[in-house]
Amino acid sequence: MWPALKHSDVQEVSLFLSITFYVWHLAVGAISIESPQKSLTRSVQDHVFFSVDVTCLGIPTIQWNFMSGVVSRGIGIWQPGVFTNVTVDYRDRVHTYSNGSMGLADLRLQDAGYYVVTVTDASGSSKDAGFVLKVNEILYEDLQYLSVSIVVLGVLAGLLLLCMWLTEKAYRHLKARRRKEQMPENDETELQHL
Ligand SMILES: *[C@@H]1O[C@H](CO)[C@@H](O)[C@H](O)[C@H]1NC(C)=O
Ligand SMILES: *[C@@H]1O[C@H](CO)[C@@H](O)[C@H](O)[C@H]1NC(C)=O
Repeated sequence: MWPALKHSDVQEVSLFLSITFYVWHLAVGAISIESPQKSLTRSVQDHVFFSVDVTCLGIPTIQWNFMSGVVSRGIGIWQPGVFTNVTVDYRDRVHTYSNGSMGLADLRLQDAGYYVVTVTDASGSSKDAGFVLKVNEILYEDLQYLSVSIVVLGVLAGLLLLCMWLTEKAYRHLKARRRKEQMPENDETELQHL
């Protein structure tokens, strides 16, 4: 019934299929990482949201890494709806999203650096995108420190003034008492002289 396929025909068909799949993969299955903002500046204690929208063939594997000078560490890896594995150091501060985005709360100065997201698709190919985060010290913390210092200095100055006033009062009191004690003697000597 079926026409017998020659070995070379099978090879041709499989070659054709692979090329078709390859072209289709290029057109449809290419990994894309869209991100509206790649450079962000925040203050200490703020939180940052690295917004990306990942699309690829099958379920993507999303991995975030941090790099700064000599430091390089993994933040977390997840597959939306399958598993989420955030590094212990980041567990309290990181929020993961199914579109690949990552939120990092309670920023510290050491969080400043380079953040890289790597997306791996079902076929094993991957693509990455980098973000730069700058973290500024907060000004109001300095101001708070300054105002606390001023209050402390004010209180100390007040105490010092109070001490001086009390000392002076005590001194005057003592002087007056001594004068009173010396008065009769003086009277006596004065009387003797007379
Ligand atoms: C990713 O998802 C989050 C939460 O649903 C959303 O706020 C954010 O805008 C999305 N990012 C992009 C680039 O679409
Ligand atoms: C999470 O990742 C760490 C290494 O990054 C690994 O040692 C650990 O086994 C992983 N945990 C789970 C539940 O996959």
